[in-house]
Amino acid sequence: MQIEEVSSTERAQRIAVHTHVRGLGLDESGRALSTATSGLVGQAAAREAAGIVVELTRGKKMAGRALLLAGAPGTGKTAMALAVAQELGPKVPFCPMVGSEVYSSEVKKTEILMENFRRAIGLRIKESKEVYEGEIVSLKPEEQEDPLGGYSKSVSHVHVTLKTTKGSKTLKLDPSIYDSLVKEKCRPGDVIYIEATTGAVKRVGRSDSFAAEFDLEAEEYVPVPKGDVHKKKDIVQDVTLHDLDIANAKPQGGQDLMSVMGSLVKPKKTEITEKLRREINKVVNRYIDTGVAELVPGVLFIDEVHMLDIECFTYLNRALESSLSPIVIFATNRGICTIRGTDVLAPHGIPVDLLDRMLVIRTMPYSLEETAQIIAIRAQTESIRLHEEALAVLAEIGSKTSLRFAVQLLTPARILAGRQGREDIIAEDVREIEDLFFDAKASAKVLAAEASHFLS
Ligand SMILES: Nc1ncnc2c1ncn2[C@@H]1O[C@H](COP(=O)(O)OP(=O)(O)O)[C@@H](O)[C@H]1O
Ligand SMILES: [Mg+2]
Repeated sequence: MQIEEVSSTERAQRIAVHTHVRGLGLDESGRALSTATSGLVGQAAAREAAGIVVELTRGKKMAGRALLLAGAPGTGKTAMALAVAQELGPKVPFCPMVGSEVYSSEVKKTEILMENFRRAIGLRIKESKEVYEGEIVSLKPEEQEDPLGGYSKSVSHVHVTLKTTKGSKTLKLDPSIYDSLVKEKCRPGDVIYIEATTGAVKRVGRSDSFAAEFDLEAEEYVPVPKGDVHKKKDIVQDVTLHDLDIANAKPQGGQDLMSVMGSLVKPKKTEITEKLRREINKVVNRYIDTGVAELVPGVLFIDEVHMLDIECFTYLNRALESSLSPIVIFATNRGICTIRGTDVLAPHGIPVDLLDRMLVIRTMPYSLEETAQIIAIRAQTESIRLHEEALAVLAEIGSKTSLRFAVQLLTPARILAGRQGREDIIAEDVREIEDLFFDAKASAKVLAAEASHFLS
């Protein structure tokens, strides 16, 4: 099984609007803190209830059960689900999906659900590895005439000098390791380690003796390592089962030019078969049994649960029972509706046998003050400067339409302000942006009023 070069398949852009959320913000007794240190504002009852679900999960008492967040759009359902994952610990996978994603012309619905389940199950692999670790003092590639002829030169080997608090050592390394050094953008002053057996290079961060240097990019500063350059090091790697599936799936087609080019056009066309998953599970179980790896069940968040159909619900009932199951959090903004694929009416469009397994938490609309507070936190996270009056107008818009809509206006308003040569957003910008864009309700109203002008 390939673990060394597993790249993460996390869906970062979907949680980009929730980067200010860092947890549920509860005190030791499980009460919601009123200061927004965790990034969450208000919604006290829902946060406290979610805290209990975290407790149940830690005590392994959520097996076979699930959580349902019910509330209007923009009341923080996604934010809350993310907070639950964060409360469960650092590096706990959070996989968000929308119910309608299961409908694809190429892949079975249950296959898509299965993939998302595996995205939400983490594996923490701990290995003691022989490494060379230290701060890069110098990095010198040694060139030679290309042995294949031609006019270019190629790197024959590279000299890297690493230092620790104890001493320094110069290594003569293979050109392939030079490639990885370049790929990781390593330069003198960086702290790195190189795995002795595989030659894999990992950049740990920038040495903190450079912490004062002017740097535009956010850097992580780390101390110069202690001990010898050559040593044994415990390395922890977090991956998801889906990361492993992808890394071990063979691309379809052969090695000829046409299929290589074909995979350029359709890059994701690797096939993960049932057999491959079984193989991976076997290896994973062996890793767990021998104590090399630890399972980290994460959170699978399924938004718009009413979009799932009866076939999906049947699958979910079974999947929740599995010993390899993440915590599943559903979200809905619907009341009674039909269960897709049937003509049965049910609360939230969910069959009763699945509903029976669910703990339900309601998320409530925000007050004007809470709305303003959340928008202010968002603006701060995105380094957007907002005049007090502009914030008030945005909060007003938020309570009239939805919090999400108001939050989404921040970036356009900043662009508008920027066009006028201003750094800060003033109330005028917000009003102008509001005139330019429609929220959903307003746009529906316009369409209805002018229905006669549109072709039906
Ligand atoms: N209680 C809260 N505290 C801080 N931010 C919140 C809170 N509730 C919602 N948000 C933020 O407001 C925006 C909309 O919320 P979201 O979670 O997408 O709502 P929903 O999923 O219910 O439609 C997001 O940017 C979210 O992070
Ligand atoms: Mg949402």
